[in-house]
Amino acid sequence: MIQELLALSEQLDTDIQTLNDEQSIEAFRLKHLVKKGTLQTFVDRLRDVPKEEKPIIGKTLNEVRRKAEQAWTEAKDSIENQKNTTASIDVTLPSRRQRRGTTHPITQTLDKAIAVFKKLGFDIAEGPDIENDAHNFGLLNFADDHPARDMQDTFFLDEKHGEKLLLRTHTSSVQIRLMTSQKPPIRAIMPGRVYRNEAVSARSLAEFHQVEGLYIDKNVTFAQLKGTLVAFAKEMYGKDLKYRFRPSYFPFTEPSAEMDITCYLCGGKGCRVCKYTGWLEILGCGMVHPNVLRNCGIDPDEYSGYAFGFGIERVTLLTTGIDDIRYLYENDVRVLRQF
Ligand code: PHE
Repeated sequence: MIQELLALSEQLDTDIQTLNDEQSIEAFRLKHLVKKGTLQTFVDRLRDVPKEEKPIIGKTLNEVRRKAEQAWTEAKDSIENQKNTTASIDVTLPSRRQRRGTTHPITQTLDKAIAVFKKLGFDIAEGPDIENDAHNFGLLNFADDHPARDMQDTFFLDEKHGEKLLLRTHTSSVQIRLMTSQKPPIRAIMPGRVYRNEAVSARSLAEFHQVEGLYIDKNVTFAQLKGTLVAFAKEMYGKDLKYRFRPSYFPFTEPSAEMDITCYLCGGKGCRVCKYTGWLEILGCGMVHPNVLRNCGIDPDEYSGYAFGFGIERVTLLTTGIDDIRYLYENDVRVLRQF
């Protein structure tokens, strides 16, 4: 029987050589590995083998069987692998482009404005979005009957501990927080989110971002205010910028002004965007009102200061040419990818 086993082993070696496609692999299995295959017949015959020969024949049979099974599995795996690789990798396909995210246009403007003011020596100050009347209005010299205190302009919240709370309408509230907690000189900008009870349109939102600035020291002048704002505007809008200051009114500054720059669309000739004036308003500013200084415990005879404020969305529209403010909040990637 051992002779027959060795003959089978040789036969297996020859057959293993032929294992190169699915048919030959299947033929090999049917011939050798199934219940009625060559190997099983030897297993069946093992019963009649005399006891003394059993160990040696059993061992040889095991080795032969292992060889057959291993060769069959390997051949099968290798055919399968070939099939998979040819199916999933087509090296002629164009590669997929990896798109990188970018910072949102509002964040880009905010970052740039902050960088410019940092260079000019300003600190960054922040305060809460939920404010009380005093910080948002009262200490800023708003009269009790000022229209901004109307529900139509301001989002009021439920009273807490007898105090009227609201969503801040400007970051001037942070100016008050600085002046009541620090001694001059104070030089800081206050970036942040602000809220106004306005209908959403192409030009206005009910929630947007502002950067306000404050400088309090001895002998601060309007000329310094102008110098700072012109330097800032040139960094944001370009060196050749044309600008003008127009008298205006804010309860917390006196005198007050608004700064205009030439319309980006018509270059000053007059068009729909600038309402045919050739100018676009970009910010409000002025010398801090003596009442505000006094309200915060700063002596207006010793100190003076300037303040200014502008909307980040507004600047973003002007520098990107986006003509509807709502695009900035819709997060449409077709818009965002352009910046
Ligand atoms: N707080 C004003 C606003 O929200 C802007 C401003 C700030 C004007 C400081 C003058 C001085 O419109």
